Amino acid sequence: MSEIVHSRVRDHLAQLRMRHLAERLDGLLSEAARNEPTYLDFLDGLLRAELEAKQLKRVAMGIQIAHFPAVKLLEEFDFKAQPSVDSKLVRELATGHYISQAENVLIFGPPGVGKTHLAIALGRAAVETRHSVLFVSATTLLAALAKAEAEGQLKDKLNFFSNPKLLVIDELGYLPFEKRSAHLFFQLVARRYEKGSMLITTNQLVGQWGAVFGDDVLAAAILDRLLHHSHTLVIQGESYRLRQKKKSGLLSKTTMDSSR
Ligand SMILES: Nc1ncnc2c1ncn2[C@@H]1O[C@H](COP(=O)(O)OP(=O)(O)OP(=O)(O)O)[C@@H](O)[C@H]1O
Ligand SMILES: [Mg+2]
Repeated sequence: MSEIVHSRVRDHLAQLRMRHLAERLDGLLSEAARNEPTYLDFLDGLLRAELEAKQLKRVAMGIQIAHFPAVKLLEEFDFKAQPSVDSKLVRELATGHYISQAENVLIFGPPGVGKTHLAIALGRAAVETRHSVLFVSATTLLAALAKAEAEGQLKDKLNFFSNPKLLVIDELGYLPFEKRSAHLFFQLVARRYEKGSMLITTNQLVGQWGAVFGDDVLAAAILDRLLHHSHTLVIQGESYRLRQKKKSGLLSKTTMDSSR
């Protein structure tokens, strides 16, 4: 009889898509026989285990979909090494609250100061707080939009980049935009405005965006929308990469100073 009930429970767990419990049923039952928890504690433990397994799976899937170029965590970011970074703001952003409000994040700074690191880490935090995320470099984004336009698929591509609750665009302004690209970028920004968040990293200060987009009026229209509901992180200081090299003795202090 207990064999029949056992197999029925497994079957029900499978139908309810409680896969983790279905797989761990025997172990959990033996553990309960040993520890003799109350009925309520037993049920509580089961449900928690299933929820935790589901959350882990969801995060793993969200990270895969986001296409982060590397694994970077907030815990790995050395805030002491980069005192210009507002650590309180970064921790607040990690709660993902700004995404619920469709607000943007702009990270400014010279090469190597941790912009991409923070962008990935905040993207990952967004996945953990149940938001859909897509990470893309500005170059890849623009190339995809231009190709879609040439193939008459622009609307679909704009939809694709408008769908994620958070779109992370890395390295904006590293290469100047062609005139048409600037228009395509404007269309994307306008589409996401007040609907979905964008997190943008750039090495160009706002005053230089006219040159990046090759059009002051368009740059102003883009900035206006991006900055309207936004949080900004301005990172200063020397490159973390160069600092690591200096530490390892690969660069002498004089090389470092002349490279600034
Ligand atoms: N404060 C920090 N703590 C720990 N690691 C850091 C820190 N800042 C940068 N790094 C590491 O240094 C390397 C360079 O950082 P990152 O790629 O984020 O720089 P970046 O600002 O995006 O530079 P670029 O403008 O050249 O793209 C990465 O491996 C990153 O993890
Ligand atoms: Mg970078």
